[in-house]
Formats: sequence, C-alpha cells, structure tokens
Amino acid sequence: MTSLFGNILVQGASRGIGLAMVEELLAEQQVDTVIATARSATTSESLQSLRQSAGERLLCLDMDITREHDIQNTAKTLKNDIKRLHGVINVAGILHDASTGMSPEKRVEDLDPAHLDTAFRVNCQGPMLVAKHCFALLRHDQPAFFASLSARVGSISDNHLGGWYSYRASKAAQNQFTRTFAVEARRRARNLRVLALHPGTTDTRLSSPFQRNVPAEKLFSADFVARRLLNIVRDTSVEDSGRFLDWDNQEVPW
Ligand SMILES: NC(=O)c1ccc[n+]([C@@H]2O[C@H](COP(=O)([O-])OP(=O)(O)OC[C@H]3O[C@@H](n4cnc5c(N)ncnc54)[C@H](OP(=O)(O)O)[C@@H]3O)[C@@H](O)[C@H]2O)c1
Repeated sequence: MTSLFGNILVQGASRGIGLAMVEELLAEQQVDTVIATARSATTSESLQSLRQSAGERLLCLDMDITREHDIQNTAKTLKNDIKRLHGVINVAGILHDASTGMSPEKRVEDLDPAHLDTAFRVNCQGPMLVAKHCFALLRHDQPAFFASLSARVGSISDNHLGGWYSYRASKAAQNQFTRTFAVEARRRARNLRVLALHPGTTDTRLSSPFQRNVPAEKLFSADFVARRLLNIVRDTSVEDSGRFLDWDNQEVPW
C-alpha cells in the first residue's frame, strides 16, 4: 500500500466531487501541495475559503480543459514551481448545460453535433491532454498516479438501458484512453499507475436533474465519494494500473 503524498493535481475542483477531494487531500499530512484547477478556480468562493486555512499548500489555477494552451500553461507553471507531481485526478465532466441546451439524449434523433463535440472535448480529450502535458511531471522515481473519474454508463458491456449517447460514448472513449495510457506508462513510467474510477450517483450539480428516481441510500454526498475514491487510489499499486474501479472498490466491466 502506498500513501497519498507529495504534490497532487485535481482538475475540475471548483465544486462537487473535485472540491471535496481537495478538502480531503489538504487533511492528509503527507500531501505537500494540492493544485486545484477549473475554469473558475481563482474565483470559486469554496476554493478561496479553503485557501484561507491551507495557505500555500493550496494552489488554485484557472484551466479550461477544452483549451490545450491552458493545460500547457498549467504544466509549465508546475514545472517551474513544484518540479514534480505525485498524482493527477481528472474530475471535470459534462452531462448537461442549460446555457447551450445540452441535455442527455433519449433518442437517436436528439443527437446534436455541437453537444457531442462538447462532451468529447470535456470528458475525453481533456484528460488526454492533461496526460500529454503532465506526463513528464509524473515520470520519476517515486510512486505516482493518474486517475480519471469515469462513469458506469460509459461501460459498453454494462449498457442495457441505452440513451445518453454523448455522455456514454465520451466516457467510453475516455476509458479506452485510460487503458491505452496505462499500457504506455507500464513501459515508460514504471512508478505510474493509471486508473479509471466510478463515483456512484453523487449529489452534485451534474446529477441534480436526474436524482428523482435514485433511492436516498444510493445518492452519495460528494464528501463520502471523495473519501472512498481517494482510499481506493491510496490502496492501489502499479500492478493495478489499467483497472476500472467503483466507489466500493469493485471492478467495473469495460
Ligand atoms: N455526480 C454523479 O452522480 C456522477 C456519476 C458518475 C460519474 N460522475 C463523474 O464525476 C466527475 C465529477 O462530477 P461532479 O458531479 O462533481 O460534477 P460537477 O459538480 O458538475 O463539477 C464539475 C467540475 O468540472 C469543472 N469543469 C467543467 N467543465 C470544465 C472545463 N471545460 N474545464 C475545466 N473544468 C471544467 C467544473 O468547474 P468550472 O465550471 O469552474 O470549470 C467543476 O469543478 C465527472 O467526470 C462526472 O462525469 C459523476
């Protein structure tokens, strides 16, 4: 078992599960710096209030994961300021957006190229580009991890209900990327473990329009999920690289 330590980047950290992870990580004695990114990281009241007690242990950076330039700038800042990363957690995800009329498709006729594009850019391309620019920071002689929040609905073999085309397909693509990156990491970064994680239905802005039929005991708080997922990451080693695990540490079929 390895502990969570060093410098850990949480991207998608301004609210929901990402914010709860930042809070959990700051409570870990051996974590030196938590880097919290989101489009609104420097203006997020929640992150700024955490910063009041965490001081320089919390570094907030604005980064839109649909813009490679932002990701590149973040990696450059981290290379100059903290030299290496011991963990990256990709949290940002999109399912719906009232400002653009994006909502999960019920029927094939609902497909909209602009919404498909957004889902792929946030849910899949984002983590891929974070890997591209942070790989050099994660490749060193200490244990490190690269974990991405996926979703069970991205599982192809577990898809019995249909619908939610863009979200399902973009998470399935993210999963394939995770597996592919795990294979490369095995060859090129022997201390790096690469994981896909399913949080379970969690009470956040992302799930709020879809909670009506979820039994109370199956709707988790962000704090609970952040704790469970970080414990799972903590308990993994490089031998687990390439696995897709849920909040209960159970394997999710690809
Ligand atoms: N909640 C659930 O029930 C559930 C279930 C299964 C899987 N998941 C997955 O878990 C992850 C976290 O979900 P959540 O429920 O915590 O979502 P959330 O409350 O909507 O938070 C999403 C976070 O992502 C950031 N974000 C969104 N678009 C971004 C972009 N283009 N660039 C940078 N950051 C961006 C948001 O910050 P800004 O708006 O400030 O950028 C926010 O911090 C997602 O990947 C989701 O697919 C959630």
